[in-house]
Amino acid sequence: LATIEFDVGAIEEGQSVTITWRGLPVFVRHRTAAEIEEAKAVPLADLKDPETDEQRTKPDHEQWLVMIASCTHLGCVPVGESGDFDGWFCPCHGSHYDTAGRVRRGPAPKNLVVPPYNFVSDTLVQIG
Ligand code: FES
Repeated sequence: LATIEFDVGAIEEGQSVTITWRGLPVFVRHRTAAEIEEAKAVPLADLKDPETDEQRTKPDHEQWLVMIASCTHLGCVPVGESGDFDGWFCPCHGSHYDTAGRVRRGPAPKNLVVPPYNFVSDTLVQIG
């Protein structure tokens, strides 16, 4: 399906799920307040692919991170809650992503991709 809807209501803070959209695995993470704070505190000058936390989330839903689960280096699936920046780590060649899914170290050239999505209600996300 080009567009899917997914209810995030059952995902507890600090947990992630992986869903499928257009045949691609997509991470949906319910970030903790500490993870959000950590992401917002990073100066843009420290980023290889500079994007603010606000650019990667939706207003009033900043606790939710929705990203295609494919390392931007060569497409391996990164592992959550790991790496040196408390986000994701790609075991294939060692790329580290932060709590906003932004690349911070390693060969990946870009941040994890945020697909087009919107909240159609407080907990219902439409992807695509
Ligand atoms: Fe992730 Fe190479 S595919 S670091």
